[in-house]
Amino acid sequence: MKTYYIETYGCQMNVADSELVAGLLKQSGYTPTNSEADANAIFLNTCAIREHAEDKIHSRLGTLKKLKKERPEILIGILGCMAQHVKDDILYNKSYVDFVLGPDSYRHLPSLLKRQEYKRDSIVDTRLSKFEVYENLFPSRKEGVNAWVSIMRGCDKFCTFCIVPFTRGRERSRNLKSIIEEVEQAVDEGFLEITLLGQNVNSYKSNKTRFPELLNSISEIKGVKRIRFTSPHPKDINDEMLFVMRDKSNICNSVHLPLQAGSDRILKKMNRTYTKSEFIHLAEHIRNVLPNCGLSTDIIAGFPSETDKDFEDTLDVMEQIIFDSAFTFKYSPRPGTKATEYSNHISEKVKDDRLQKLIKLQQSHTIKRNEKEISKVVKVLVEKNSKKSNQQWAGRTDANKWVIFPKKDTQIGDFVNVKIVDARGISLFGELDEKKEISSAII
Ligand code: SAH
Ligand code: SF4
Ligand code: F3S
Repeated sequence: MKTYYIETYGCQMNVADSELVAGLLKQSGYTPTNSEADANAIFLNTCAIREHAEDKIHSRLGTLKKLKKERPEILIGILGCMAQHVKDDILYNKSYVDFVLGPDSYRHLPSLLKRQEYKRDSIVDTRLSKFEVYENLFPSRKEGVNAWVSIMRGCDKFCTFCIVPFTRGRERSRNLKSIIEEVEQAVDEGFLEITLLGQNVNSYKSNKTRFPELLNSISEIKGVKRIRFTSPHPKDINDEMLFVMRDKSNICNSVHLPLQAGSDRILKKMNRTYTKSEFIHLAEHIRNVLPNCGLSTDIIAGFPSETDKDFEDTLDVMEQIIFDSAFTFKYSPRPGTKATEYSNHISEKVKDDRLQKLIKLQQSHTIKRNEKEISKVVKVLVEKNSKKSNQQWAGRTDANKWVIFPKKDTQIGDFVNVKIVDARGISLFGELDEKKEISSAII
């Protein structure tokens, strides 16, 4: 039996793609292994979003080169968003790599593996497709309660800092029927939560179906206990989407609302298509329609020409919205994107200082929001062991907050009522609310 080892970097789209690749490898007679030392094939599914992400892959390639020297028969594949960038380097300098496959080329994997059996040479396929959405291919999912289901691929927004439109190509959506089939299959396999994925998940459009109708259809599939989605673009959030979220109890009330920056001048240079005040109004509107909605965000510090005053606008938006959580990044120039050509790039030192300010402010906001949960009884889906103790579970609330609580006699996949007693770091801590459990059982 041949075995493979796959390592995944980057966003959830890559996690979902790795499961797709795992499904194709299964068809080719490969089984997964957790150790690269005894694998017949090793794949790195790469990310190009920031320089740091690419650096990690370059250093991993160094160790794989050594491994290939020791075991020349091993197959090494580079997949995903760096493929485009590294293909020339691989072709000319890294002959130990057997495959370079971009995000739209995975369908060819079984035939390429066959070809490698009689002809060993480096294969590069980084063509981007206007159509590939991997319909009718079923991913081989990791165990757990959540199934990732990608509903659209690519991005046409071209934010000036972002490499994704170049690494993943044009926006395209899967048809509704094939998404429904995949969700039904995931439910049959025992998954309780479905997370719909896309670089701009809410610009989904297939024939006449738009994102709100898709959400509605998925929520009606029997056995789907929870639905999440990521990442939406603020511009494509509309009332229809919010109303479906409000009216369907199995659609989680949590929205990732990427801010990126607060100053109108910087937002314009980023091509984000909204202003500071439009963004703040949108956040308020979401909370008006969905009062307990969790709001998370992405913020970039030190975009070219960002002044202290511009940066204060970012802090001001954060103060006005008080996000539940935030992913914060230093601007990283990506070759080929428009922002790299802008003047007045910001020094590393200033970027560092601003990033620290973002982190500190968000930490205080996360605690502030989480402290509001103390004494409430919240519904949690038990997902996994807590990192600190195997006597405790970790699970999420509807609003996407992690809760740690004692296991007692509950199991992964149970919905439990937890009384929140503490808020520390990014997590909530609680006790099983047995009284409530008993009373709901009597009803
Ligand atoms: N489609 C998603 C973003 C995916 S990339 C969206 O629009 O929300 C995830 C995050 O990485 C972005 O939201 C942005 O905050 C960050 N990012 C993207 N390019 C970056 C760059 N060049 N430097 C720093 N952060 C970047
Ligand atoms: Fe990148 Fe902007 Fe597209 Fe998000 S919307 S993937 S940030 S270009
Ligand atoms: Fe990275 Fe590609 Fe995702 S660049 S963030 S893995 S879409």
